[in-house]
Amino acid sequence: MEFNAKITGVGSAFPKTKVTNNDISDLIAEYGEHTNDQWIRERTGIVTRRISEKGNPDEYNSALGAKASLLALEMAGKKAIDVELIVYGTASPDTLLPSTACWLQKKIGADLAWGFDLNAACSGFVYGLAVGSQFIQTGNAKTVLVTGVDVVSFVVNWKDRNSCILFGDGAGAAVLERADDNDSGKIIDYKMLSNGKLWSLFHVEAGGSKLEVTNDLILQNKNKMAMNGKEIFKVAVRTLADFAVNILEKNNYTIDDLDWFIPHQANIRIIEAVARRLKLPMEKVVINVDRCGNTSAATIPTALDEAVRDKRIKKGQLVLLDAFGAGITFGSVLMRW
Ligand SMILES: CC(C)(COP(=O)(O)OP(=O)(O)OC[C@H]1O[C@@H](n2cnc3c(N)ncnc32)[C@H](O)[C@@H]1OP(=O)(O)O)[C@@H](O)C(=O)NCCC(=O)NCCS
Repeated sequence: MEFNAKITGVGSAFPKTKVTNNDISDLIAEYGEHTNDQWIRERTGIVTRRISEKGNPDEYNSALGAKASLLALEMAGKKAIDVELIVYGTASPDTLLPSTACWLQKKIGADLAWGFDLNAACSGFVYGLAVGSQFIQTGNAKTVLVTGVDVVSFVVNWKDRNSCILFGDGAGAAVLERADDNDSGKIIDYKMLSNGKLWSLFHVEAGGSKLEVTNDLILQNKNKMAMNGKEIFKVAVRTLADFAVNILEKNNYTIDDLDWFIPHQANIRIIEAVARRLKLPMEKVVINVDRCGNTSAATIPTALDEAVRDKRIKKGQLVLLDAFGAGITFGSVLMRW
């Protein structure tokens, strides 16, 4: 490894429309399903989320990604033209072809970059950090834009009260650059793992080359997400905690050394259970699931952005990002800010 990579700018963006638990309750009542604000708050910690307006170009995946990216570039003191590589973490692209990385490139004018989409579902941003930092570390790039953006609302099954209450849309982005030798801020380590054997816990069956969407399949909601919430819950708690312990131990740190823990924001009960396992006080955990729901690849970069901008995260502090998502995918990134 020749160089260290570090995050020099972060940004986020959300659609305008706030959707409350009561709004969801009213919506799903039209399909004969029932839920209520109290159940959703108690079982998930979610109070509200933002949902993109369908057909509004300002709220396409790439439009939200562009807003978040420009804010991240501004914080880093960089221009879009400085970007050499775009790693676009998303599972809800604008179009299958071209990639959303290309739509983003066009929108922000990153004309000297190459880029691609990276689909690791909710782990997309941390996978992207691992990939992007490789290019910095080897000296192949000096400025890399990594995003975590999802408009998952388009695959939410509004007839399934188990899953439709959980999700929101949003965008986060980070600029990765080469750290100076005397700079304390750097990505220290990352650990990624996928387990394709667990694919059925969370998937969308139709819409790829395996199964084209037909009218019949639409009627069966096969083009929408299917989720085994209880199983995901168990796998997530166990694995998020294991990943956190492993990466800290590997780098000779303990939980007490950690200043900030930013886990994937899927459910406050998952986050609290992981913190209990780690014996980590909740004051060290960054949370936005209450206001955003599960924004898939965007949960971690948007939470990071919030905590950097409100100055909770300070220079030199030890920060751990910890993700899981459909696949199942897992990933953690340990860094010094
Ligand atoms: C989905 C999830 C919120 C369900 O919470 P839970 O505490 O496990 O709830 P259960 O599945 O045990 O359901 C309890 C009861 O509430 C009911 N219920 C489910 N959804 C409901 C809703 N939205 N409103 C009211 N009742 C609901 C169930 O039907 C069940 O009723 P029953 O006891 O009569 O059978 C939770 O399992 C979860 O968040 N899992 C992780 C999902 C996830 O993170 N997915 C994304 C991965 S990136």
